[in-house]
Amino acid sequence: MIFKKAKFDIDYNNIPKHVAFIMDGNGRWAKNKGLMRSAGHKAGAETLFSLAKDAKELGVEVVTVYAFSTENWKRNKEEINYIFKLMETVFEEKYEEMQKNNIKVRMIGTLDRLVGEYDSLKKKIEKIIDDTKNNDGITLNIAFNYGSKDEIIRAVRNISKDVKEDRIKIDEINEDLFETYLMTHGLPKIDLMIRTSGEQRLSNFLLWQLAYTEMIFTSTYWPDFNSKELKKCILEYQKRDRRYGNAK
Ligand code: FPP
Repeated sequence: MIFKKAKFDIDYNNIPKHVAFIMDGNGRWAKNKGLMRSAGHKAGAETLFSLAKDAKELGVEVVTVYAFSTENWKRNKEEINYIFKLMETVFEEKYEEMQKNNIKVRMIGTLDRLVGEYDSLKKKIEKIIDDTKNNDGITLNIAFNYGSKDEIIRAVRNISKDVKEDRIKIDEINEDLFETYLMTHGLPKIDLMIRTSGEQRLSNFLLWQLAYTEMIFTSTYWPDFNSKELKKCILEYQKRDRRYGNAK
């Protein structure tokens, strides 16, 4: 008997290499359940690690997640402290699992604001990046204290410095060179960006890198985003006709 490929089957030859997520809706998920916002972040962190595993099994090479933006510092200190403590806890609790699943952690954004009371989180992040640097199952790229405008300004500053100190010439500045100054340097281009919770904006996330990325906005709150949801998004991605500005 010949089994026909069902039309809802994922095409494993066309899996997005790099998927970025705006993990939104933790607070609303918690509120709907009569829970504190912190419970939403806790559930969201669980979702993140199971998603990295699911993505790896589907053949995705890099997952980038927006964990804490340069604008998130405007939240009340209690919530910031909770998110930071949660990160520290999960980096410890998920340590073995990350190693077992061959997950390489890297980061975009900067750790320069993690001083004083936040120094221990800084050390944990540096440790997990270092301890997983030789893993090659999937890269989990965490955007932490990340803002795309901040990233672009830093790139411009560094390019200007290199011009001033004669390492590059103004005429050599082009898209390829500019990208080497971005924090995503070395990662494959982002094929798919998914934002959960129904919001439809970029919120200062990877403005340069998403220029030709397919985008999916789903109403599911982040803590409920599971392997089935991921597969649905990949199927939707596979239906899209990516033309990069070319004609049909
Ligand atoms: C957005 O939901 C979520 C965040 C700003 C925090 C996301 C952080 C985690 C999931 C933990 C990350 C852990 C690691 C290890 C990286 P929201 O609070 O804006 O939700 P709302 O819009 O419904 O209020």
